[in-house]
Amino acid sequence: MQKVIVTGGTGYIGSHTVVQLLGEGFEVVIIDNLLNSEASALDGIEKITGQRPLFYQVDLLDYANLQDVLALHKDAVACIHFASLKAVAESMERPLWYYRNNLNGMTNLLEGLRSASVEHVIFSSSASVYGNTTVLPITEALPARNAVSAYGISKQVGEELIDAALVEACFGSAISLRYFNPIGAHSSALIGELPKGRPNNLMPYITQTAAGIRQQLTIFGKDYPTPDGTAVRDYLHVEDVATAHVKALMRLLNGKNEAAHEAFNLGSGNGYSVLEIVQAFERANSIKLNYVFAERRPGDVAELRADASLAVEKLGWTAQRSLEDMVRSAWAWERKARGL
Ligand code: NAD
Ligand code: UFG
Repeated sequence: MQKVIVTGGTGYIGSHTVVQLLGEGFEVVIIDNLLNSEASALDGIEKITGQRPLFYQVDLLDYANLQDVLALHKDAVACIHFASLKAVAESMERPLWYYRNNLNGMTNLLEGLRSASVEHVIFSSSASVYGNTTVLPITEALPARNAVSAYGISKQVGEELIDAALVEACFGSAISLRYFNPIGAHSSALIGELPKGRPNNLMPYITQTAAGIRQQLTIFGKDYPTPDGTAVRDYLHVEDVATAHVKALMRLLNGKNEAAHEAFNLGSGNGYSVLEIVQAFERANSIKLNYVFAERRPGDVAELRADASLAVEKLGWTAQRSLEDMVRSAWAWERKARGL
């Protein structure tokens, strides 16, 4: 059994990836400080897979503790690094916190991997590395040097840290996956997105509004140069995102990578507006959502859409699940998590 270390593994995308790794026969060790997740994600993972991964509640900023954990798992073949703060707007208000958590945490991890002799790394990057581009759809050929938010900059620099760690031979090869907008939940409704506090992202805000936890959804901006005036994003199902990690891991383990550090966009290539998401949610779940329009959110762009053909070609991956799957599974999860 090959062992994989997963940072941020109790989080939203991490937990779905852990389920698939276990399903593929990998042994998984999770490191997470539970800053934005609950240990109960481990129960969900166990119910789905019949296996409970080893879990360490450790902060990546705590270098000594992190080193101790990594030293126990020198036999791991790879590390998938999800752990980070991830809210764009919050990162504009508290940029130093974002830099410290995401970059100091990542530097600690990458240095720690050198002594742990882990060979391969997969990094959760983001479409935010492309900044305010108007070139659509976005290919990897667009320079990943234009991030505008502290969050986006932390991902852009995160990719640079991977290159730096390769120079210092902390590990042998890496893949950065630049996700567009993952939404939805596992088909079992046993794991899903459960952000702490007020959600920043659209889908948890929608499901919490439907559940009555939030009074109404605020749609930020209705004057964008898009067909209905609301901002367009490339939404893809979180289970598809998880699958891409397994494919990326296999590519590294099989030595199929063409460079020491590769980067791939993960998107469906379809753009949906905020209003289209709201309407799809209402239609698929027979629910009427309360919503109001407000000013644009600072830092937001009109439209982001991926060209994911490189991932199709090199990873053999495509986003398979429909928008209906995404909005249905998101609501099924919220209902189950809230006991509704
Ligand atoms: P999440 O918040 O659900 O998961 C991140 C996990 O990392 C959480 O469980 C949190 O507790 C943990 N964490 C944060 N800082 C830590 C630290 N210092 N030490 C240990 N654990 C720490 O977020 P997610 O949506 O699952 O995102 C996973 C990754 O994907 C992140 O790196 C995020 O930036 C990236 N990403 C997410 C999206 C999205 O829309 N969800 C889009 C692009 C990229
Ligand atoms: N939105 C609302 N109301 C809300 C929340 C969001 O109208 O309550 C709108 C936003 O203004 C935006 C769209 O819904 O137009 C999507 O917003 P999200 O916050 O869900 O997602 P973002 O596109 O801002 O950012 C997400 C992740 C980032 C990632 C980025 C890459 O949060 O981590 O996708 O595309 F980098």
